[in-house]
Amino acid sequence: MWLLIALLLGVPAGGQVDTTQAVITLQPPWTSVFQKENITLWCEGPRLPGDNSTQWFHNSTAIQTLTSRYSIISASVNDSGEYRCQTGLSVPSDPVQLEIHRDWLLLQVSSRVFTEGEPLDLRCHGWKNKLMYNVIFYQNGKAFKFFPQNSELSILKTNTSHNGIYHCSAMGRHRYTSAGVSVTVKELFPPPVLTASLALPLLEGNLVTLSCETKLLPQRPGLQLYFSFYMGSKTLKARNTSSEYQILTARREDSGLYWCEAATEDGNVLKRSPDLELQVLGLQSSTPAWFNIVFYLIVGIITLVDTVLCMTIHKKLQRKKKRNLAISLDSNHGKKVTSCLQKDRHLEEELKCQEQEEEKLQERTHQKKPKKEER
Ligand SMILES: *[C@@H]1O[C@H](CO)[C@@H](O)[C@H](O)[C@H]1NC(C)=O
Ligand SMILES: *[C@@H]1O[C@H](CO)[C@@H](O)[C@H](O)[C@H]1NC(C)=O
Ligand SMILES: *[C@@H]1O[C@H](CO)[C@@H](O)[C@H](O)[C@H]1NC(C)=O
Ligand SMILES: *[C@@H]1O[C@H](CO)[C@@H](O)[C@H](O)[C@H]1NC(C)=O
Ligand SMILES: *[C@@H]1O[C@H](CO)[C@@H](O)[C@H](O)[C@H]1NC(C)=O
Ligand SMILES: *[C@@H]1O[C@H](CO)[C@@H](O)[C@H](O)[C@H]1NC(C)=O
Repeated sequence: MWLLIALLLGVPAGGQVDTTQAVITLQPPWTSVFQKENITLWCEGPRLPGDNSTQWFHNSTAIQTLTSRYSIISASVNDSGEYRCQTGLSVPSDPVQLEIHRDWLLLQVSSRVFTEGEPLDLRCHGWKNKLMYNVIFYQNGKAFKFFPQNSELSILKTNTSHNGIYHCSAMGRHRYTSAGVSVTVKELFPPPVLTASLALPLLEGNLVTLSCETKLLPQRPGLQLYFSFYMGSKTLKARNTSSEYQILTARREDSGLYWCEAATEDGNVLKRSPDLELQVLGLQSSTPAWFNIVFYLIVGIITLVDTVLCMTIHKKLQRKKKRNLAISLDSNHGKKVTSCLQKDRHLEEELKCQEQEEEKLQERTHQKKPKKEER
């Protein structure tokens, strides 16, 4: 229930920010000027039909001007500070920080805080617009650009490497050095990472989904990214809003190095993922033919040797059995001869045997005696 409410409230609010926010533009385009110079601020944003009114804020307090144009004639220190504007159907603009300086040399920038891909203009500006010579631009104390006369410097597509503190130096009557200006370039989205829906390596026939994952800056929820998928130098899918690519049935030929690219619609910000190595293992006939031949040959030889061995052992055993039989028959003959003297006979048998012997003896004596009894 709470989740549902959070979703209902959260999604539209997040999506509206980008499209209905008012925007301030400066003319001339510099966020810092010398005293006594003129500067005009313009406000753009969606309006109600028949309502041209614009609300301006300086240091968070509403100011009288109600037109889309706010002009500062002969700027003074009091004109410094934070400016915002709002039109009938817009939410207040991002603030513009205006600085009014007193100096010989001023490094002017078109914006101090912005997102990568946006342009940055720099100017090394002399007091009373005086012509300057041998102009040098510095980033973080390191000279990076030289002009024989003062000139504007444009970076068309900024990236996070353009972060830092800029200043300039130039020759007039002396060599002058400007104050430093801090410039912040926010990353719109980090480089994407390509991931597979299955654990690698894959098996032949697998369905696998490759995802090109990145995260947009929270301030730009409505921005649409475009994704491209590559295998080596081959384009698999170009500039599609879907961040996924499917391999319906993986084959071994699908093995290789995959990578993806995420880009803004205008292509000003374009980032590449690291390579993802995809390996597809075969299920059948994954082994070469020669391996099969050798394998079956070895199995055949082993079977043959086994059979021969078995047969010889069988024959030997049979021969041994016959011999044993003969021996046992021989020993039986011997037993009959020694009959009663054998100790391993049962007691009963022994007794019977003794009785028989005694009877025999008696018979023998009786055969001699009956003649006496008859008498
Ligand atoms: C500023 O504007 C006023 C009136 O429009 C003009 O007289 C003046 O010369 C301008 N100053 C500069 C420095 O351009
Ligand atoms: C709004 O501005 C336009 C020109 O910018 C003008 O023609 C029109 O009369 C203005 N409407 C109102 C209500 O001020
Ligand atoms: C700036 O503002 C202060 C008071 O906030 C005022 O005393 C001063 O006169 C102003 N300066 C100019 C040049 O308007
Ligand atoms: C606005 O704030 C800046 C500093 O943040 C200050 O220099 C300037 O005088 C202020 N101006 C007004 C009109 O409050
Ligand atoms: C940033 O842009 C510059 C060109 O302005 C380019 O040489 C550099 O490689 C870029 N750096 C990154 C991290 O994209
Ligand atoms: C994006 O890809 C889908 C299918 O993967 C396709 O239907 C759609 O037409 C593609 N869109 C674009 C702009 O190429």
